[in-house]
Amino acid sequence: MSENILILGATSAIARGTAAAFAARGDNIYLASRDEEELKRIAADLTVRYGVKVSYGLFDAAATDTHPAFFQAVLKEMQELNGVVLAFGLLGDQQAARDFSVAEKIITSNFTGAVSILSLCANYFEPLKRGFIIGISSVAGDRGRQSNYVYGAAKGALSIYLQGLRNRLFPSGVRVVTIKPGFVDTAMTFGLPGLFLVATPQHIGKQIVRTLSKSADVVYLPGFWRYIMLIIKHVPEVIFKRMKM
Ligand SMILES: NC(=O)c1ccc[n+]([C@@H]2O[C@H](COP(=O)([O-])OP(=O)(O)OC[C@H]3O[C@@H](n4cnc5c(N)ncnc54)[C@H](OP(=O)(O)O)[C@@H]3O)[C@@H](O)[C@H]2O)c1
Repeated sequence: MSENILILGATSAIARGTAAAFAARGDNIYLASRDEEELKRIAADLTVRYGVKVSYGLFDAAATDTHPAFFQAVLKEMQELNGVVLAFGLLGDQQAARDFSVAEKIITSNFTGAVSILSLCANYFEPLKRGFIIGISSVAGDRGRQSNYVYGAAKGALSIYLQGLRNRLFPSGVRVVTIKPGFVDTAMTFGLPGLFLVATPQHIGKQIVRTLSKSADVVYLPGFWRYIMLIIKHVPEVIFKRMKM
């Protein structure tokens, strides 16, 4: 039976891949992001390709005071929700993030805004005793590195938040999955030096939807990133602080 899925940050390349994978299994989608024209294009494309119902609406993760009204509008349009995918995020410029005003934007776009909207989603699913929340965090949240520690700290906080939310919602039968992608070929990583083993957003999107048929709570994508991060996490700090990462 088809489900109703809300995708937050729907203009992201990974979100597009994920929306396509949900639509391919016949699900109805609500796309939410800050760019209405792009949402319209993505919605038209999904409708033509998969023949599912696709709605869309404006959503700014940083405008937390608008989130309750936004979520009510989504429920009004979809009648009910079965799942939510949180895909928005901002890598930002680590050099510029030495300035707190820039760092704050990165923290809001990856963490504070996520807590705001996911609180509403969790409070909606909990009494229904069903549903899922998929949060896209990052391997960057596993260890602080000089090249992206503001982004990494925000993603690390998001991973911990999702972990606690999973713990809270488990008795209600609501599933919370944390996705930790490695390098993915998207606008976020375009032109960055030192990328390796780069995955396509289409592949990652399909894998995100596949996690729902498995039982894992924290999923590294592609899977080999679990082992790369295991090594990185175990490098002693006395060595790690001397490394250029
Ligand atoms: N690409 C990678 O290698 C990689 C690796 C690990 C994790 N991730 C995570 O995967 C997720 C998807 O990223 P992506 O690689 O697909 O990057 P992307 O194509 O650059 O997408 C990022 C998305 O976040 C949205 N966004 C940023 N700030 C927002 C805000 N305040 N409110 C609403 N939307 C906002 C952007 O919307 P606008 O178009 O309106 O700016 C954009 O759609 C992100 O959470 C990212 O951190 C990516």
